[in-house]
Amino acid sequence: MKQKGKKRLFIKTYGCQMNVYDSARMADVLAPLGYEAVDSPRGADMVILNTCHIREKASEKVFSELGRLRAFKDERRAEGAEMVLAVAGCVAQAEGEEILRRAPQVDLVFGPQTYHRLPEMIARAARKGGGELDIDFPVESKFDYLPEETINPGASAFLSVQEGCDKFCSFCVVPYTRGAEFSRPVAAVLAEARRLAAAGVQEITLLGQNVNAYHGEAATGGIWGLGRLLRALAEIEGITRLRYTTSHPRDMDDELIAAHADEPKLMPYLHLPVQSGSDRILAAMNRRHTAGDYLRIVERLRKARPDIALSSDFIVGFPGESDADFADTLRLVTEVGYAQAYSFKYSPRPGTPAASEAQQLPEAVKAERLAGLQQLLGEQAVAFNAGCVGRTLPVLLERAGRKPGQLVGRSPYMQAVHLSVPEVAQQRLIGALLDVEIEAAHPNSLAGRLPLAGDLRPCSAASVAPDASTRARISA
Ligand code: SAH
Ligand code: SF4
Ligand code: F3S
Repeated sequence: MKQKGKKRLFIKTYGCQMNVYDSARMADVLAPLGYEAVDSPRGADMVILNTCHIREKASEKVFSELGRLRAFKDERRAEGAEMVLAVAGCVAQAEGEEILRRAPQVDLVFGPQTYHRLPEMIARAARKGGGELDIDFPVESKFDYLPEETINPGASAFLSVQEGCDKFCSFCVVPYTRGAEFSRPVAAVLAEARRLAAAGVQEITLLGQNVNAYHGEAATGGIWGLGRLLRALAEIEGITRLRYTTSHPRDMDDELIAAHADEPKLMPYLHLPVQSGSDRILAAMNRRHTAGDYLRIVERLRKARPDIALSSDFIVGFPGESDADFADTLRLVTEVGYAQAYSFKYSPRPGTPAASEAQQLPEAVKAERLAGLQQLLGEQAVAFNAGCVGRTLPVLLERAGRKPGQLVGRSPYMQAVHLSVPEVAQQRLIGALLDVEIEAAHPNSLAGRLPLAGDLRPCSAASVAPDASTRARISA
Protein backbone atom coordinates (compact mmCIF):
# COMPACT_ATOMS: atom_id res chain seq x y z
CA MET A 1 0.00 0.00 0.00
CA LYS A 2 1.15 3.48 -0.81
CA GLN A 3 1.85 5.62 2.27
CA LYS A 4 -0.05 8.92 2.46
CA GLY A 5 2.00 11.83 1.06
CA LYS A 6 4.52 9.48 -0.47
CA LYS A 7 5.04 9.49 -4.20
CA ARG A 8 6.43 6.65 -6.24
CA LEU A 9 9.48 7.42 -8.39
CA PHE A 10 10.85 5.11 -11.07
CA ILE A 11 14.14 5.97 -12.77
CA LYS A 12 15.48 3.92 -15.67
CA THR A 13 19.14 4.54 -16.42
CA TYR A 14 20.90 3.97 -19.74
CA GLY A 15 24.51 4.59 -20.71
CA CYS A 16 27.60 5.23 -18.64
CA GLN A 17 28.37 5.43 -14.93
CA MET A 18 27.96 9.22 -15.01
CA ASN A 19 24.30 8.59 -15.76
CA VAL A 20 24.12 6.10 -12.87
CA TYR A 21 25.52 8.79 -10.57
CA ASP A 22 23.13 11.41 -11.98
CA SER A 23 20.11 9.12 -11.50
CA ALA A 24 21.02 8.59 -7.85
CA ARG A 25 21.36 12.34 -7.38
CA MET A 26 17.97 12.95 -9.05
CA ALA A 27 16.46 10.65 -6.44
CA ASP A 28 18.25 12.69 -3.75
CA VAL A 29 16.82 15.94 -5.21
CA LEU A 30 13.29 14.50 -5.27
CA ALA A 31 13.34 12.86 -1.82
CA PRO A 32 12.40 16.08 0.05
CA LEU A 33 9.29 16.29 -2.17
CA GLY A 34 8.18 12.88 -0.89
CA TYR A 35 9.37 10.75 -3.82
CA GLU A 36 10.54 7.24 -3.01
CA ALA A 37 12.17 4.86 -5.45
CA VAL A 38 10.13 1.90 -6.72
CA ASP A 39 11.25 -0.83 -9.09
CA SER A 40 8.49 -0.72 -11.69
CA PRO A 41 7.11 2.14 -13.79
CA ARG A 42 3.57 0.79 -13.53
CA GLY A 43 1.57 2.89 -11.10
CA ALA A 44 4.45 5.32 -10.49
CA ASP A 45 3.79 9.02 -9.85
CA MET A 46 6.90 9.97 -11.76
CA VAL A 47 9.01 8.11 -14.31
CA ILE A 48 12.39 9.41 -15.46
CA LEU A 49 14.27 7.91 -18.39
CA ASN A 50 17.92 8.92 -17.99
CA THR A 51 19.14 8.41 -21.52
CA CYS A 52 22.30 7.81 -23.54
CA HIS A 53 23.05 9.17 -27.01
CA ILE A 54 26.40 7.48 -27.65
CA ARG A 55 25.29 5.05 -30.38
CA GLU A 56 22.17 4.93 -32.53
CA LYS A 57 20.82 1.86 -30.77
CA ALA A 58 21.07 3.55 -27.38
CA SER A 59 19.02 6.56 -28.53
CA GLU A 60 16.40 4.50 -30.32
CA LYS A 61 15.56 2.61 -27.14
CA VAL A 62 14.15 5.81 -25.67
CA PHE A 63 11.35 6.19 -28.18
CA SER A 64 10.27 2.56 -27.92
CA GLU A 65 10.28 2.80 -24.12
CA LEU A 66 8.19 5.99 -24.30
CA GLY A 67 5.59 4.10 -26.30
CA ARG A 68 5.32 1.50 -23.54
CA LEU A 69 5.11 4.15 -20.82
CA ARG A 70 2.31 5.95 -22.59
CA ALA A 71 0.05 2.96 -21.81
CA PHE A 72 0.96 3.15 -18.09
CA LYS A 73 0.29 6.86 -18.09
CA ASP A 74 -3.15 6.31 -19.65
CA GLU A 75 -3.83 3.61 -17.06
CA ARG A 76 -3.03 6.07 -14.25
CA ARG A 77 -5.22 8.72 -15.79
CA ALA A 78 -8.12 6.24 -15.98
CA GLU A 79 -7.67 5.77 -12.22
CA GLY A 80 -7.89 9.56 -11.75
CA ALA A 81 -4.18 9.95 -11.00
CA GLU A 82 -1.20 11.42 -12.86
CA MET A 83 2.13 10.02 -13.95
CA VAL A 84 4.75 12.68 -14.64
CA LEU A 85 6.90 11.42 -17.50
CA ALA A 86 10.40 12.88 -17.87
CA VAL A 87 13.27 12.32 -20.27
CA ALA A 88 16.70 13.23 -18.91
CA GLY A 89 20.31 12.72 -19.93
CA CYS A 90 22.14 12.85 -23.23
CA VAL A 91 19.29 12.13 -25.68
CA ALA A 92 17.28 14.83 -23.92
CA GLN A 93 20.17 17.25 -24.36
CA ALA A 94 20.64 16.39 -28.04
CA GLU A 95 17.03 15.94 -29.16
CA GLY A 96 14.95 17.76 -26.55
CA GLU A 97 12.51 19.52 -28.89
CA GLU A 98 12.19 16.47 -31.12
CA ILE A 99 11.17 14.40 -28.08
CA LEU A 100 8.41 16.80 -27.11
CA ARG A 101 7.20 16.87 -30.71
CA ARG A 102 7.27 13.11 -31.28
CA ALA A 103 6.12 12.06 -27.81
CA PRO A 104 3.46 14.46 -26.46
CA GLN A 105 2.97 12.16 -23.45
CA VAL A 106 6.32 13.48 -22.12
CA ASP A 107 5.89 16.21 -19.50
CA LEU A 108 9.46 17.33 -19.03
CA VAL A 109 12.77 17.07 -20.78
CA PHE A 110 16.05 18.10 -19.17
CA GLY A 111 19.76 17.64 -19.81
CA PRO A 112 22.60 16.34 -17.63
CA GLN A 113 23.49 19.77 -16.24
CA THR A 114 20.10 21.05 -15.03
CA TYR A 115 18.54 18.32 -12.90
CA HIS A 116 19.16 20.31 -9.69
CA ARG A 117 16.21 22.42 -10.94
CA LEU A 118 13.84 19.43 -11.00
CA PRO A 119 11.44 20.69 -8.29
CA GLU A 120 10.81 23.95 -10.22
CA MET A 121 10.51 22.06 -13.50
CA ILE A 122 7.89 19.71 -12.05
CA ALA A 123 5.88 22.64 -10.72
CA ARG A 124 6.07 24.49 -14.05
CA ALA A 125 5.09 21.39 -16.04
CA ALA A 126 2.10 20.87 -13.72
CA ARG A 127 0.97 24.49 -14.23
CA LYS A 128 1.15 24.40 -18.00
CA GLY A 129 0.19 20.74 -18.45
CA GLY A 130 3.54 19.36 -19.69
CA GLY A 131 5.91 20.49 -22.43
CA GLU A 132 8.66 21.68 -20.04
CA LEU A 133 12.14 21.82 -21.62
CA ASP A 134 15.40 22.68 -19.80
CA ILE A 135 18.49 21.82 -21.79
CA ASP A 136 20.67 24.77 -20.74
CA PHE A 137 24.31 24.60 -19.93
CA PRO A 138 23.81 26.89 -16.90
CA VAL A 139 26.59 29.10 -15.52
CA GLU A 140 25.88 27.74 -12.06
CA SER A 141 27.10 24.19 -11.37
CA LYS A 142 24.46 21.61 -10.45
CA PHE A 143 26.90 20.30 -7.82
CA ASP A 144 26.48 23.53 -5.80
CA TYR A 145 22.72 22.92 -5.57
CA LEU A 146 22.43 19.18 -5.04
CA PRO A 147 21.47 17.98 -1.55
CA GLU A 148 24.25 16.69 0.69
CA GLU A 149 22.41 13.52 1.64
CA THR A 150 22.82 10.46 -0.53
CA ILE A 151 20.17 7.77 -0.10
CA ASN A 152 21.63 4.35 0.85
CA PRO A 153 24.92 4.57 -1.02
CA GLY A 154 25.97 0.95 -0.25
CA ALA A 155 29.55 -0.31 0.11
CA SER A 156 30.75 0.98 -3.24
CA ALA A 157 29.75 4.38 -4.59
CA PHE A 158 30.36 6.64 -7.56
CA LEU A 159 31.52 10.22 -7.12
CA SER A 160 31.53 12.56 -10.14
CA VAL A 161 34.55 14.84 -10.02
CA GLN A 162 34.74 15.98 -13.61
CA GLU A 163 32.17 16.52 -16.32
CA GLY A 164 32.14 17.21 -20.00
CA CYS A 165 34.81 16.90 -22.63
CA ASP A 166 36.86 19.25 -24.79
CA LYS A 167 38.59 16.52 -26.81
CA PHE A 168 36.12 16.26 -29.70
CA CYS A 169 37.01 12.81 -30.97
CA SER A 170 35.47 12.86 -34.43
CA PHE A 171 32.96 10.02 -33.70
CA CYS A 172 31.68 11.17 -30.31
CA VAL A 173 28.60 13.08 -29.11
CA VAL A 174 29.76 13.60 -25.52
CA PRO A 175 31.27 17.10 -25.98
CA TYR A 176 27.88 18.19 -27.36
CA THR A 177 25.65 16.44 -24.83
CA ARG A 178 27.66 17.02 -21.66
CA GLY A 179 29.23 20.34 -22.54
CA ALA A 180 32.67 21.76 -21.83
CA GLU A 181 35.13 20.17 -19.47
CA PHE A 182 34.68 21.15 -15.84
CA SER A 183 36.35 19.94 -12.62
CA ARG A 184 34.72 20.18 -9.20
CA PRO A 185 36.79 21.97 -6.55
CA VAL A 186 38.93 19.72 -4.33
CA ALA A 187 37.09 20.68 -1.13
CA ALA A 188 33.70 19.72 -2.58
CA VAL A 189 35.01 16.33 -3.67
CA LEU A 190 36.64 15.62 -0.31
CA ALA A 191 33.50 16.67 1.56
CA GLU A 192 31.31 14.37 -0.54
CA ALA A 193 33.78 11.50 -0.06
CA ARG A 194 33.76 12.03 3.73
CA ARG A 195 29.97 11.93 3.77
CA LEU A 196 30.01 8.73 1.74
CA ALA A 197 32.55 7.17 4.13
CA ALA A 198 30.41 8.21 7.10
CA ALA A 199 27.44 6.47 5.43
CA GLY A 200 29.42 3.22 5.23
CA VAL A 201 30.98 3.45 1.78
CA GLN A 202 34.36 1.71 1.50
CA GLU A 203 35.05 1.97 -2.18
CA ILE A 204 34.78 5.16 -4.20
CA THR A 205 34.97 5.28 -7.99
CA LEU A 206 35.73 8.77 -9.21
CA LEU A 207 33.84 9.57 -12.38
CA GLY A 208 34.33 11.86 -15.32
CA GLN A 209 34.01 11.64 -19.09
CA ASN A 210 37.71 12.49 -18.97
CA VAL A 211 38.36 11.84 -15.33
CA ASN A 212 42.14 12.01 -15.55
CA ALA A 213 41.92 15.47 -17.11
CA TYR A 214 40.76 16.51 -13.60
CA HIS A 215 42.21 19.85 -12.57
CA GLY A 216 40.35 21.01 -9.48
CA GLU A 217 40.89 24.22 -7.56
CA ALA A 218 42.32 23.59 -4.11
CA ALA A 219 41.18 25.65 -1.12
CA THR A 220 44.84 26.37 -0.33
CA GLY A 221 45.33 27.78 -3.83
CA GLY A 222 46.65 26.05 -6.90
CA ILE A 223 45.24 23.31 -9.04
CA TRP A 224 45.29 19.59 -8.21
CA GLY A 225 45.50 16.81 -10.74
CA LEU A 226 43.81 13.44 -10.28
CA GLY A 227 46.91 11.78 -8.74
CA ARG A 228 47.01 14.33 -5.94
CA LEU A 229 43.27 14.10 -5.41
CA LEU A 230 43.46 10.30 -5.10
CA ARG A 231 46.17 10.58 -2.47
CA ALA A 232 44.05 12.97 -0.41
CA LEU A 233 41.02 10.69 -0.72
CA ALA A 234 43.12 7.71 0.41
CA GLU A 235 43.60 9.48 3.74
CA ILE A 236 39.87 9.44 4.53
CA GLU A 237 39.16 6.96 7.28
CA GLY A 238 36.87 4.13 6.20
CA ILE A 239 37.75 4.39 2.50
CA THR A 240 39.65 1.23 1.60
CA ARG A 241 39.47 1.23 -2.19
CA LEU A 242 39.72 3.87 -4.88
CA ARG A 243 39.10 3.65 -8.60
CA TYR A 244 38.53 6.15 -11.40
CA THR A 245 36.96 6.04 -14.86
CA THR A 246 37.06 6.93 -17.77
CA SER A 247 40.56 8.01 -18.64
CA HIS A 248 42.07 9.34 -21.83
CA PRO A 249 45.59 8.18 -22.74
CA ARG A 250 46.77 11.76 -23.25
CA ASP A 251 46.03 12.67 -19.64
CA MET A 252 47.90 9.79 -17.95
CA ASP A 253 50.45 12.06 -16.27
CA ASP A 254 53.48 11.11 -14.13
CA GLU A 255 51.73 11.95 -10.85
CA LEU A 256 48.83 9.64 -11.65
CA ILE A 257 51.06 6.77 -12.77
CA ALA A 258 53.14 7.23 -9.60
CA ALA A 259 49.97 6.93 -7.50
CA HIS A 260 49.49 3.46 -8.98
CA ALA A 261 52.97 2.55 -7.73
CA ASP A 262 52.68 3.68 -4.14
CA GLU A 263 49.05 4.18 -3.12
CA PRO A 264 47.83 0.75 -2.02
CA LYS A 265 44.18 1.87 -1.84
CA LEU A 266 44.25 2.64 -5.55
CA MET A 267 43.02 -0.61 -7.10
CA PRO A 268 45.14 -2.38 -9.74
CA TYR A 269 42.63 -1.96 -12.55
CA LEU A 270 42.43 0.70 -15.22
CA HIS A 271 39.94 1.30 -18.02
CA LEU A 272 42.02 3.12 -20.62
CA PRO A 273 40.22 3.30 -23.98
CA VAL A 274 42.42 3.18 -27.08
CA GLN A 275 39.65 2.81 -29.72
CA SER A 276 41.99 1.57 -32.50
CA GLY A 277 45.50 0.23 -33.01
CA SER A 278 46.01 2.00 -36.33
CA ASP A 279 47.78 5.37 -36.30
CA ARG A 280 45.96 6.41 -39.47
CA ILE A 281 42.57 5.72 -37.87
CA LEU A 282 43.58 7.24 -34.53
CA ALA A 283 44.49 10.44 -36.41
CA ALA A 284 41.16 10.38 -38.29
CA MET A 285 39.42 9.88 -34.95
CA ASN A 286 41.23 12.99 -33.62
CA ARG A 287 42.48 10.96 -30.64
CA ARG A 288 45.79 12.84 -30.66
CA HIS A 289 47.88 9.83 -29.64
CA THR A 290 49.44 6.97 -31.59
CA ALA A 291 49.38 3.24 -30.88
CA GLY A 292 53.02 3.56 -29.80
CA ASP A 293 52.14 6.34 -27.30
CA TYR A 294 49.49 4.06 -25.82
CA LEU A 295 51.82 1.07 -25.56
CA ARG A 296 54.42 3.20 -23.80
CA ILE A 297 51.82 4.32 -21.24
CA VAL A 298 50.87 0.68 -20.66
CA GLU A 299 54.52 -0.17 -20.16
CA ARG A 300 54.91 2.63 -17.57
CA LEU A 301 51.74 1.57 -15.77
CA ARG A 302 52.96 -2.03 -15.58
CA LYS A 303 56.30 -0.84 -14.27
CA ALA A 304 54.47 1.12 -11.56
CA ARG A 305 52.03 -1.66 -10.72
CA PRO A 306 53.07 -4.99 -12.27
CA ASP A 307 49.73 -6.72 -11.64
CA ILE A 308 47.56 -3.92 -13.04
CA ALA A 309 44.61 -5.29 -15.04
CA LEU A 310 43.78 -3.28 -18.14
CA SER A 311 40.50 -2.64 -19.91
CA SER A 312 39.67 -0.62 -23.01
CA ASP A 313 37.03 0.50 -25.48
CA PHE A 314 37.37 -0.25 -29.19
CA ILE A 315 35.49 0.98 -32.24
CA VAL A 316 35.61 -1.18 -35.37
CA GLY A 317 34.52 -0.09 -38.84
CA PHE A 318 35.37 3.58 -38.43
CA PRO A 319 35.04 5.35 -41.83
CA GLY A 320 37.96 4.37 -44.08
CA GLU A 321 39.21 1.56 -41.79
CA SER A 322 41.04 -0.97 -44.00
CA ASP A 323 41.83 -4.62 -43.33
CA ALA A 324 45.38 -3.52 -42.50
CA ASP A 325 44.09 -0.92 -39.98
CA PHE A 326 41.96 -3.56 -38.34
CA ALA A 327 44.93 -5.94 -38.22
CA ASP A 328 46.82 -3.18 -36.35
CA THR A 329 44.03 -3.18 -33.76
CA LEU A 330 44.31 -6.94 -33.29
CA ARG A 331 48.08 -6.58 -32.97
CA LEU A 332 47.74 -3.92 -30.29
CA VAL A 333 45.31 -6.09 -28.35
CA THR A 334 47.76 -8.99 -28.52
CA GLU A 335 50.61 -6.79 -27.33
CA VAL A 336 48.72 -5.29 -24.40
CA GLY A 337 46.81 -8.32 -23.12
CA TYR A 338 43.52 -7.06 -21.67
CA ALA A 339 41.75 -8.38 -18.61
CA GLN A 340 38.45 -7.28 -20.17
CA ALA A 341 37.21 -4.79 -22.74
CA TYR A 342 34.23 -3.27 -24.55
CA SER A 343 34.01 -3.15 -28.33
CA PHE A 344 31.51 -1.51 -30.63
CA LYS A 345 30.66 -1.14 -34.29
CA TYR A 346 31.13 2.44 -35.40
CA SER A 347 27.76 4.20 -35.28
CA PRO A 348 27.48 7.49 -37.21
CA ARG A 349 26.13 10.16 -34.88
CA PRO A 350 24.37 13.22 -36.30
CA GLY A 351 26.46 16.36 -36.00
CA THR A 352 29.81 14.64 -35.45
CA PRO A 353 32.53 15.07 -38.13
CA ALA A 354 33.01 11.33 -38.79
CA ALA A 355 29.31 10.88 -39.64
CA SER A 356 29.74 12.92 -42.84
CA GLU A 357 32.91 11.10 -43.99
CA ALA A 358 32.45 9.59 -47.43
CA GLN A 359 33.97 6.17 -46.73
CA GLN A 360 31.33 4.64 -44.43
CA LEU A 361 31.84 0.88 -44.19
CA PRO A 362 29.15 -1.72 -44.91
CA GLU A 363 27.40 -3.28 -41.92
CA ALA A 364 28.70 -6.75 -42.87
CA VAL A 365 32.33 -5.60 -42.63
CA LYS A 366 31.70 -4.00 -39.25
CA ALA A 367 29.98 -7.15 -37.99
CA GLU A 368 32.79 -9.43 -39.16
CA ARG A 369 35.51 -7.27 -37.60
CA LEU A 370 33.59 -6.95 -34.35
CA ALA A 371 33.24 -10.74 -34.13
CA GLY A 372 36.99 -11.19 -34.76
CA LEU A 373 37.97 -8.62 -32.16
CA GLN A 374 35.52 -9.94 -29.58
CA GLN A 375 36.85 -13.45 -30.07
CA LEU A 376 40.39 -12.28 -29.23
CA LEU A 377 39.28 -10.09 -26.31
CA GLY A 378 37.11 -12.93 -25.01
CA GLU A 379 40.06 -15.33 -25.03
CA GLN A 380 42.16 -12.83 -23.12
CA ALA A 381 39.42 -12.30 -20.52
CA VAL A 382 39.06 -16.05 -20.04
CA ALA A 383 42.85 -16.39 -19.66
CA PHE A 384 42.99 -13.53 -17.17
CA ASN A 385 40.19 -14.97 -15.05
CA ALA A 386 41.66 -18.49 -15.24
CA GLY A 387 44.95 -17.05 -13.91
CA CYS A 388 43.11 -16.15 -10.68
CA VAL A 389 41.91 -19.68 -9.86
CA GLY A 390 43.60 -21.08 -6.78
CA ARG A 391 44.49 -17.62 -5.46
CA THR A 392 43.03 -15.74 -2.54
CA LEU A 393 41.72 -12.28 -3.41
CA PRO A 394 40.24 -9.56 -1.22
CA VAL A 395 36.62 -9.14 -2.30
CA LEU A 396 34.32 -6.29 -1.33
CA LEU A 397 30.93 -7.95 -0.94
CA GLU A 398 28.40 -5.55 -2.39
CA ARG A 399 25.06 -7.31 -2.65
CA ALA A 400 23.06 -10.51 -2.44
CA GLY A 401 23.14 -12.71 -5.54
CA ARG A 402 20.18 -14.39 -7.23
CA LYS A 403 20.47 -17.70 -5.37
CA PRO A 404 19.74 -18.08 -1.64
CA GLY A 405 22.88 -17.43 0.42
CA GLN A 406 24.76 -16.08 -2.60
CA LEU A 407 26.87 -12.92 -2.34
CA VAL A 408 28.41 -10.88 -5.13
CA GLY A 409 31.42 -8.62 -4.83
CA ARG A 410 34.41 -7.33 -6.76
CA SER A 411 38.03 -8.37 -6.78
CA PRO A 412 40.74 -5.67 -6.88
CA TYR A 413 40.84 -6.33 -10.65
CA MET A 414 37.12 -5.47 -11.05
CA GLN A 415 36.05 -9.07 -11.63
CA ALA A 416 32.64 -9.97 -10.26
CA VAL A 417 33.11 -12.70 -7.64
CA HIS A 418 30.22 -14.97 -6.56
CA LEU A 419 30.27 -17.00 -3.38
CA SER A 420 27.82 -18.90 -1.23
CA VAL A 421 27.50 -18.44 2.52
CA PRO A 422 24.95 -19.76 5.02
CA GLU A 423 21.74 -17.80 4.52
CA VAL A 424 21.79 -16.51 8.09
CA ALA A 425 25.14 -14.80 7.44
CA GLN A 426 24.22 -13.29 4.09
CA GLN A 427 22.88 -9.89 5.18
CA ARG A 428 25.62 -9.41 7.78
CA LEU A 429 28.36 -9.97 5.21
CA ILE A 430 27.14 -7.35 2.73
CA GLY A 431 29.63 -4.50 2.90
CA ALA A 432 32.47 -6.69 4.21
CA LEU A 433 35.89 -6.81 2.58
CA LEU A 434 36.98 -10.43 2.86
CA ASP A 435 39.64 -12.76 1.52
CA VAL A 436 38.04 -15.17 -0.91
CA GLU A 437 39.57 -18.33 -2.36
CA ILE A 438 38.93 -18.37 -6.09
CA GLU A 439 37.72 -21.80 -7.15
CA ALA A 440 36.52 -21.34 -10.71
CA ALA A 441 36.65 -18.85 -13.55
CA HIS A 442 33.93 -17.97 -16.05
CA PRO A 443 34.23 -15.56 -19.00
CA ASN A 444 32.73 -12.65 -17.03
CA SER A 445 33.09 -13.64 -13.39
CA LEU A 446 34.81 -15.75 -10.76
CA ALA A 447 33.41 -18.17 -8.20
CA GLY A 448 34.97 -18.47 -4.78
CA ARG A 449 34.55 -19.44 -1.14
CA LEU A 450 35.59 -18.04 2.20
CA PRO A 451 38.89 -19.67 3.23
CA LEU A 452 39.63 -21.15 6.62
CA ALA A 453 42.81 -19.12 6.93
CA GLY A 454 43.71 -16.00 4.94
CA ASP A 455 46.39 -16.43 2.30
CA LEU A 456 46.71 -13.16 0.45
CA ARG A 457 48.63 -13.48 -2.75
CA PRO A 458 48.08 -11.11 -5.66
CA CYS A 459 46.27 -12.38 -8.71
CA SER A 460 48.58 -13.09 -11.61
CA ALA A 461 48.30 -10.86 -14.64
CA ALA A 462 51.01 -13.01 -16.24
CA SER A 463 48.48 -14.97 -18.26
CA VAL A 464 47.76 -12.00 -20.50
CA ALA A 465 50.73 -9.69 -19.87
CA PRO A 466 53.14 -9.48 -22.80
CA ASP A 467 56.25 -11.66 -22.77
CA ALA A 468 59.78 -10.22 -22.61
CA SER A 469 60.20 -9.87 -26.37
CA THR A 470 56.93 -7.97 -26.73
CA ARG A 471 57.92 -5.71 -23.86
CA ALA A 472 61.25 -5.01 -25.55
CA ARG A 473 59.38 -4.04 -28.73
CA ILE A 474 57.07 -1.74 -26.79
CA SER A 475 59.88 0.15 -25.12
CA ALA A 476 61.97 0.30 -28.32
N1 SAH B 1 35.37 9.40 -22.48
C1 SAH B 1 35.65 8.09 -22.83
C2 SAH B 1 34.50 7.30 -23.42
C3 SAH B 1 33.19 7.89 -23.76
S1 SAH B 1 32.00 6.99 -24.64
C4 SAH B 1 36.87 8.08 -23.73
O1 SAH B 1 37.45 9.07 -24.01
O2 SAH B 1 37.29 7.04 -24.18
C5 SAH B 1 32.30 5.29 -24.34
C6 SAH B 1 32.75 4.54 -25.55
O3 SAH B 1 31.75 4.48 -26.53
C7 SAH B 1 33.95 5.15 -26.27
O4 SAH B 1 35.15 4.87 -25.65
C8 SAH B 1 33.83 4.55 -27.62
O5 SAH B 1 34.53 3.32 -27.71
C9 SAH B 1 32.35 4.27 -27.78
N2 SAH B 1 31.76 5.19 -28.75
C10 SAH B 1 31.67 6.53 -28.67
N3 SAH B 1 31.10 7.04 -29.78
C11 SAH B 1 30.83 5.99 -30.59
C12 SAH B 1 30.25 5.85 -31.89
N4 SAH B 1 29.86 6.92 -32.57
N5 SAH B 1 30.14 4.61 -32.40
C13 SAH B 1 30.55 3.53 -31.71
N6 SAH B 1 31.09 3.59 -30.49
C14 SAH B 1 31.23 4.80 -29.93
FE1 SF4 C 1 34.14 11.25 -26.46
FE2 SF4 C 1 36.70 11.45 -27.07
FE3 SF4 C 1 35.67 12.99 -25.17
FE4 SF4 C 1 35.96 10.38 -24.75
S1 SF4 C 1 37.62 11.86 -25.09
S2 SF4 C 1 34.18 11.62 -24.26
S3 SF4 C 1 35.55 9.53 -26.75
S4 SF4 C 1 35.18 13.08 -27.31
FE1 F3S D 1 25.89 8.00 -23.03
FE2 F3S D 1 25.91 10.49 -22.26
FE3 F3S D 1 27.29 8.69 -20.91
S1 F3S D 1 25.93 9.79 -24.32
S2 F3S D 1 27.86 7.25 -22.48
S3 F3S D 1 25.11 8.77 -21.11
S4 F3S D 1 27.89 10.77 -21.32
